[in-house]
Amino acid sequence: MTDPKTDLLFSRRSIRRFKPDPVSEPVIRRILEAAHAAPSAHNTRPWRFIVLRDPAVRRMLAERMAEAYARDAEADGQTPEAIRARNARSVDRISGAPLGILALMDESGLPEGAGRRMEGERLLLVQSVAAAVQNLLLGLHAEGLGGCWICAPAFCPQTVREALGLPERWIAQALIVAGHPAEEPGKPDGRMLDEVVLWR
Ligand SMILES: Cc1cc2nc3c(=O)[nH]c(=O)nc-3n(C[C@H](O)[C@H](O)[C@H](O)COP(=O)(O)O)c2cc1C
Repeated sequence: MTDPKTDLLFSRRSIRRFKPDPVSEPVIRRILEAAHAAPSAHNTRPWRFIVLRDPAVRRMLAERMAEAYARDAEADGQTPEAIRARNARSVDRISGAPLGILALMDESGLPEGAGRRMEGERLLLVQSVAAAVQNLLLGLHAEGLGGCWICAPAFCPQTVREALGLPERWIAQALIVAGHPAEEPGKPDGRMLDEVVLWR
């Protein structure tokens, strides 16, 4: 199915291998504008972004997240070899990409309190950041670049906060690795539309 109106949506793929060429600052700004144009609950725009251009910072962050993963995986009974192999891949992927953009949720605007309403409000912040990340991925694609959503930060937000010296209530949600694509993956298999839609 090709239709110029929707091509951008259907042709986006997760890109995990990149050429070494850097991404220029004006392009990065356009991609961030795309992310910042996403819908957000109560128009709060609760997303925050950290542009990780310095390879040493990306490596440091990747290593700190790998340590956090190792602690969790050890507690879950994974073998040291499996943990080492997974972490080597993860550190390579993150530090080897020419660009990383960390997406966080600023929850400082949440009213005080607990309970179901508050849980719902917090969920809206998470959903808003996810909408921004999708816009960011589409923004990359529109620029002829590629990216991949990496979920590691969501499992260790405190580690990320400490590694980068971030405010207490900025909660890391995702890391997008990005750059000029060095692969052209096909459409992944998955559920068909009719398996995920009910009509009433
Ligand atoms: C919430 C979320 C977390 C993801 N985390 C990872 C990840 O940690 N590593 C990775 O390689 N891909 C990750 N992905 C990308 C998915 O694997 C990918 O979107 C899926 O396989 C479909 O492929 P496509 O994006 O090319 O359509 C993530 C995607 C989402 C939405």
